[in-house]
Amino acid sequence: MITCSAPGKIYLFGEHAVVYGQSAICCAIDIRTRVQAERCDSIVIESVLGRTGIDYDIHPYVSKAIEKMQDHADIEGVKIRIDSNLPVGSGLGSSAAVTVAAIQALNHLFNCNLQLEEIATIGHGIEKEVQGNASPTDTYVSTMGGVVMIPQRRKLQALECTIVIGNTGRFSSTRELVASVARLKIEFPDIIDPILTNIGTMSLIAEEYVSRKEYATLGKLMNVNHGLLDAIGVGSAELSALVYAARSNGALAAKITGAGGGGCMVALSDEPEAQRIAKAISDSGAEVIITRNTHEGVRLETQK
Ligand code: PMV
Repeated sequence: MITCSAPGKIYLFGEHAVVYGQSAICCAIDIRTRVQAERCDSIVIESVLGRTGIDYDIHPYVSKAIEKMQDHADIEGVKIRIDSNLPVGSGLGSSAAVTVAAIQALNHLFNCNLQLEEIATIGHGIEKEVQGNASPTDTYVSTMGGVVMIPQRRKLQALECTIVIGNTGRFSSTRELVASVARLKIEFPDIIDPILTNIGTMSLIAEEYVSRKEYATLGKLMNVNHGLLDAIGVGSAELSALVYAARSNGALAAKITGAGGGGCMVALSDEPEAQRIAKAISDSGAEVIITRNTHEGVRLETQK
């Protein structure tokens, strides 16, 4: 029996702008999805959602992962069990994490010898098929871990500060939010295009502050990024309330992470302030997660 796990992610910079080829910085977080795989007579997939065979409605990502791995091994039967600490559908990359953890578990169980780059590529293909469209960001970061500049796929220095996430619990459709930015861009290209370019430039400038571990300066730029996300219409009163609660309780930075609308915001802080920021976010009505950057992407947990 094989157990593999893969992490979720946050965006430090660049969501939405990355859709138009601008740079973004993503950071793997130490909250993981675990996938257990063992040989079996038939195909069984188990999670909190239930027990199924190949089922593209209930377990689309794992079903696709099994289907795709048929190209690399003769999989007649396998039993897969999914356990996740990542909230689903909130922009923390839960679907990418389950996808790459499942691919890696099957890779080990059936001795396919796939390398990490291939796992990220197969994972991206699966996300695209299931979601209609998806950037390679989530699957790449979940596979590789660390802090990554996209689309360059460059690994940056680890982030050594505390990450506090506020989850509104409100579902947001990435597809709809991306479409709303596209509409605004068509209506006001002279206004929106420079905003997206500025967001990309911010990612490039921020790389240096990540390297130098200058988190206060990095934070200033992340706060600007939040303002620009608000400007292109993906903010909400609830997300802004959480952002301002975090900032006024000592956060170095606070911004939307992911598609916006609902979903999550993220704050960076020094360790001593983290609890105070977490309390402020929670008092504002959101669910809080305190975590850190992880350098480890998809990994083998156990092999029996
Ligand atoms: O909310 P998430 O984690 O799905 O992030 C969406 C990020 C976007 O840039 C808005 C879309 C994309 O595919 O990159």
